[in-house]
Amino acid sequence: MNENNKTWSGRFNEPVSELVKRYTASVEFDQRLAQFDIQGSLAHANMLATQGIISHDDLTAIEQGLGQIREEIQNNEFVWSLDLEDVHLNIEKRLTSLVGDAGKRLHTGRSRNDQVATDIRLFLRTAIDEIIGLIQTMQGALLDLAQQHIHTIMPGFTHLQVAQPVSFAHHLMAYFEMLKRDIGRLRDCRMRTNQLPLGAAALAGTSYPIDREYVARLLGFDGVCENSLDAVSDRDFAIEFNACAALIMTHLSRLSEELILWMTPAFGFIQLADRFCTGSSIMPQKKNPDVPELVRGKTGRVNGHLIALLTLMKAQPLAYNKDNQEDKEPLFDTVDTVIDTLRIYTDMLSGIQVNAQNMRRSALHGHATATDLADYLVKKGIPFRDAHEIVAKTVQHAEHKQCELSELDLYDLQQFSAEVASDIFDFLTLEGSMLSRNHTGGTAPEQVQAAIQRARMWLANP
Ligand code: ARG
Repeated sequence: MNENNKTWSGRFNEPVSELVKRYTASVEFDQRLAQFDIQGSLAHANMLATQGIISHDDLTAIEQGLGQIREEIQNNEFVWSLDLEDVHLNIEKRLTSLVGDAGKRLHTGRSRNDQVATDIRLFLRTAIDEIIGLIQTMQGALLDLAQQHIHTIMPGFTHLQVAQPVSFAHHLMAYFEMLKRDIGRLRDCRMRTNQLPLGAAALAGTSYPIDREYVARLLGFDGVCENSLDAVSDRDFAIEFNACAALIMTHLSRLSEELILWMTPAFGFIQLADRFCTGSSIMPQKKNPDVPELVRGKTGRVNGHLIALLTLMKAQPLAYNKDNQEDKEPLFDTVDTVIDTLRIYTDMLSGIQVNAQNMRRSALHGHATATDLADYLVKKGIPFRDAHEIVAKTVQHAEHKQCELSELDLYDLQQFSAEVASDIFDFLTLEGSMLSRNHTGGTAPEQVQAAIQRARMWLANP
């Protein structure tokens, strides 16, 4: 009889092959859950003793043994065995070798099915809290950069064509809003993650007089999973989290795409600090924005993990199935990718050098204040659709003369509408255009300053 199966092999006549052992084992990746597994076991044992299901001496032995195991794992002294399949059996086996029968009593009223569900929830709750903190730090870096650029004018784009002038600060604050929604989604997901599965046992509950609410309180859960079948089989929280993560990465990927464009000589809006770039082995002039490119690329793998988790669950009958073991690697990789990306982004933002002159020059091309001319005519009583037509003709004329709309003289402008007077030049300048968008959510410096103020207040008390 092969060592691996001692905990469940009583009824088997032959050991599993090496390949099956490797194929079914999860210890290589789920050992990452060890500290949460121990935390859950300590709470479970405490409850068992409180309810008189095991003795207080057993509890003391279990606590002492798990304490030692925790240290062994922290010090990298713990010997993980593939024969013992997963993190749960590895720890239980070691506990029994350390404290004897008390260790064998730990699993009373519990199954690996509710145990693993608990471990993942504890893991994910911790990850969510860390990620929320990292998003807030990145938001702080965005605000610091935005604060310096309330008056820095760049072209705002639609269809990647110059549309209307906006401030660089206003553009950055759009990302603040996205990240703020990301935090909201993570908080919402945390509420559903932070429910206790333990007590569901294998699937139907247990015949011992357990106290699930007590365990929930010990572990800091907001409540208990209400249905035992759902408790062991539900992985919605993992999918929800991965969806939140996919959106975070999508936002960072969009910003990355912009940084990459802005860094090309054709734009020349920004420079990234050298530590986020690499050179080319053949083209000496190159400075490549590797970090934003990789953020864009890694978004693909996080999106992939979301699809993997959805697919994992889509045809599973109730309750626990071994399929669920496949939830861990995508989830872990998503957590690691998002955490690394947020960390690196905060640092990268603080190292951005802005070339305000190039931004301004670019905004001067493409008739960015054409809408302002139309709005000017509307304010003189011309219906908007007619004004739109007049401006279109004026732009055509400017194109013909190979100049910008704002460079036409009064005589030229008046050819298309007699309503145009000399005050038009207050509106056709980039500053005039930006100043005039003076309402909540607009790009006027006063409004962006107020938005930054509100953002700082929110960040101080999110
Ligand atoms: N390693 C398993 C997992 O990750 C633990 C639960 C196994 N339960 C079982 N009945 N085989 O899902």
